[in-house]
Amino acid sequence: MVTLPRPQLHMTCPLNQLPDDPLPRGCSVRTLTRADLPVWVALLNRNGELGSWSAERAETLFDDPTRLTLDASVFITLDGEPVATAQLNPHATDAYAPRHELGWVAVDPAYRGRGFGRTACLAVMRLAAAREIDELFLKTDDHRIPAIRTYLRLGFRPWPRDPTSPERWRIALAATGLPPGAS
Ligand SMILES: CC(C)(COP(=O)(O)OP(=O)(O)OC[C@H]1O[C@@H](n2cnc3c(N)ncnc32)[C@H](O)[C@@H]1OP(=O)(O)O)[C@@H](O)C(=O)NCCC(=O)NCCS
Repeated sequence: MVTLPRPQLHMTCPLNQLPDDPLPRGCSVRTLTRADLPVWVALLNRNGELGSWSAERAETLFDDPTRLTLDASVFITLDGEPVATAQLNPHATDAYAPRHELGWVAVDPAYRGRGFGRTACLAVMRLAAAREIDELFLKTDDHRIPAIRTYLRLGFRPWPRDPTSPERWRIALAATGLPPGAS
């Protein structure tokens, strides 16, 4: 019997009522430039949970404006050093169009547990809202409980897109430890 890979879990969030968190002390938000790509690659490789990255892989992704653009990709810097990242993925032409995705959310492992993932997500949500995008979606995996907890607390909710997802969401939501409907 062939076991097919499970589809990723999906969530959506309207952007009409974003939290007004101030930036954590010492932090700034900035969008990326081409010169930042080696730094972005190094951050994703240090993160270690979003695959293995090379300059070539990053350039392929950022060279396709239907996938990622530098001006919709953020770094959260702490004292000038990038410690977290997230991106707005436009999905202009694929099966998700015209939706926009929050993706490639990553924090440097040395800086986990300080809310920088939330700060990075919120920066992309604000950037999307400023572009008059009404809603974002995201894809995640069952085991990414810190990410799912972060997304729930920002207002994302499960988007059940396939028959396996209700039971998988039941388990993942319980693992976050958040009460039902909490944000
Ligand atoms: C997701 C990620 C960016 C969050 O980083 P962070 O901002 O440092 O997140 P934290 O470690 O503070 O964890 C976020 C929340 O999950 C909670 N959490 C962490 N580990 C947990 C666990 N094992 N079980 C339940 N909750 C957990 C934290 O307490 C925190 O809760 P709070 O927001 O109520 O304080 C980071 O974990 C990461 O880079 N993960 C690997 C890449 C990844 O999974 N990206 C998302 C792809 S969809």
